Amino acid sequence: MTNPTIDLLLARRSVSANSLGEPGPSTAELELILRAASRVPDHKKLVPWRFLLFQGEARAAFGGVLAEICRTEESDPGAFRLKTEAKRFLRAPLVIAVISRIVKTPGAPEWEQTLSAGACCQNLIVAATALGYGAQWITEWCGYSEGVRKALRLADNERVAGFVYIGTAKEKPDERERPKLAEIVAPWRP
Ligand SMILES: Cc1cc2nc3c(=O)[nH]c(=O)nc-3n(C[C@H](O)[C@H](O)[C@H](O)COP(=O)(O)O)c2cc1C
Repeated sequence: MTNPTIDLLLARRSVSANSLGEPGPSTAELELILRAASRVPDHKKLVPWRFLLFQGEARAAFGGVLAEICRTEESDPGAFRLKTEAKRFLRAPLVIAVISRIVKTPGAPEWEQTLSAGACCQNLIVAATALGYGAQWITEWCGYSEGVRKALRLADNERVAGFVYIGTAKEKPDERERPKLAEIVAPWRP
């Protein structure tokens, strides 16, 4: 039995941000990717997530912001580290910050809303892969930094679920070992 969606899911591999290059998705492709990402299970239709796009010059500009935050948050980052930060978002033509946004609602626990944001990240990756791009969902230090939270102007109910890097794979990633189903799947027994 062959099925293109199953084939994609079974073959998908993340492509490391360092192995991504130009070109990135076109405007029309980006819209498809974002539509796929906003079509995830969402209990009570709260839309508990949003997307921040980094493309073109915004990536270098945000790199400058990251280097400045690194300088204040780390005791002695050194010139090499600061240069790395300045170039962090330049690793791919497109970086999408998925922002989880908790909407306090009876019957829709925070946990479920957080999971929904995770589903957005995965749909971004699957949609980008389906269109022939490479993608990686990462957080790194900037996903957890107070300074980055401020720079992204996140509200108190928001946090970074991930930075999804999307571009063209410069090299095909090696296969990655996957868990054996027998080790993670079991029938429930009374
Ligand atoms: C929430 C989350 C955060 C992650 N953060 C990082 C990260 O900061 N750096 C990293 O190398 N991989 C990170 N990963 C792992 C990659 O997304 C990816 O799973 C890994 O490169 C393996 O690729 P695969 O998707 O082909 O299994 C993260 C994964 C998740 C779910």
